[in-house]
Amino acid sequence: MQRQNAPRRAPAKRGTGALPLFFIVFTVLVLLVVSFFAFDFFGGSRRSAVEYTIGTASYKLSADDAYADGVLLVCFDDVAALCDMTDVGGSETRSYFAENSAENITFTAASTTATLNGKAIEMPTAAILRDGKMYVPLEMLTQFMGGVSITRGENGVKIERGTYNASTEDTPLYSDASFSAATDAPLVPPDDTELRKAPTFLFITDLSAYEQYMCPEDIDGYLILVNRERTIDASYVPSDLVDIADSRSDRTERMVETAEKALEALYIEMRAAGYTDVSVTSGYRSYEKQEYLYNLYTENEMKAGISREEAQKIVDTYSARPGTSEHQTGLCCDMHNLPSASQRFAEKDAYKWLIENAHKFGFILRFPEDKEEITGYSFEPWHYRFVGRYHAAEMYRLGMCLEEYVAYLESEQ
Ligand code: DAL
Ligand code: ZN
Repeated sequence: MQRQNAPRRAPAKRGTGALPLFFIVFTVLVLLVVSFFAFDFFGGSRRSAVEYTIGTASYKLSADDAYADGVLLVCFDDVAALCDMTDVGGSETRSYFAENSAENITFTAASTTATLNGKAIEMPTAAILRDGKMYVPLEMLTQFMGGVSITRGENGVKIERGTYNASTEDTPLYSDASFSAATDAPLVPPDDTELRKAPTFLFITDLSAYEQYMCPEDIDGYLILVNRERTIDASYVPSDLVDIADSRSDRTERMVETAEKALEALYIEMRAAGYTDVSVTSGYRSYEKQEYLYNLYTENEMKAGISREEAQKIVDTYSARPGTSEHQTGLCCDMHNLPSASQRFAEKDAYKWLIENAHKFGFILRFPEDKEEITGYSFEPWHYRFVGRYHAAEMYRLGMCLEEYVAYLESEQ
């Protein structure tokens, strides 16, 4: 029998069918499981929508809207509304001012840099502008804001105004929101000196070498107030008196060194502006010199046939009694372009230049025309006092004389 040769079967190919597919699916599954656990292990969490309660308002944001780069966001405009903040600026950059305060924070859309009370700080992710509202990392509130209470639950964030005396009051009293006042470990405590930076001015001349004197490092070191109420000890003599470069040619007047250097800068610029005939007629005066002058003026007034008391009443309007003159501090000087100090100096162009520019060099007009009731002295267009540029510019901006300004600063504390 002929053996029928069965057609030879081709040998089955191995390994090219179901097996690789199984391996691929298996590997993907393993990777998914590992990444699932690794995410939690490394501190991540699977994001879900976030419920926000800001004051009485409540809304939900999807995970995509609530997080950026894994950082939880909050709508700062809603927080600002809750805390009665004032917002200033356009849509891209917005500053928020705490109620009853100059404290503020500024955010710029798409920027990681915020500005807290004038100081730049970096955020973990950029601010996002969405539907006209500014979303910023929640930690900007926990790190830098006081006056709000923030509770983070499993799926939500609750922000309320901080209250004080709430338990004893029927109506809770809200504490004002503030910036940089949070107790939750601020990153960089605000540097007060940094915040109170003196403005910069453009001069005709190069005064860069004098900046250190016009804007002294010890920003409050030259703010001393001496007047009838705040007297100066008879024995007080400033330790660092130097000759004033721009004293009148017939005399050598002295001043505290920092003030004198700032005055040199003023004179360089004043001369460059065309006023070349102003000079210093009086600087530091000792207690004894002031006593001598006061008595001299009194004797002169008495020549009109009036009593000593009547003469003193008149002198008291233009000369300080010994122990009450700021000339004893070495921080002021009398300067003009007349044979002797006179209110006629107010008509001179040099005076006009001085009142518009003295603050740029750290000087103030000490006895202005419209402040006679407050300073207690008649208008002295010739008497300038060094306080440093920061305070001089502030007084110029606020239109305050030294008495008003010191009272204003003291009321702020
Ligand atoms: N002329 C001012 C008030 C003084 O004597 O100090
Ligand atoms: Zn004077």
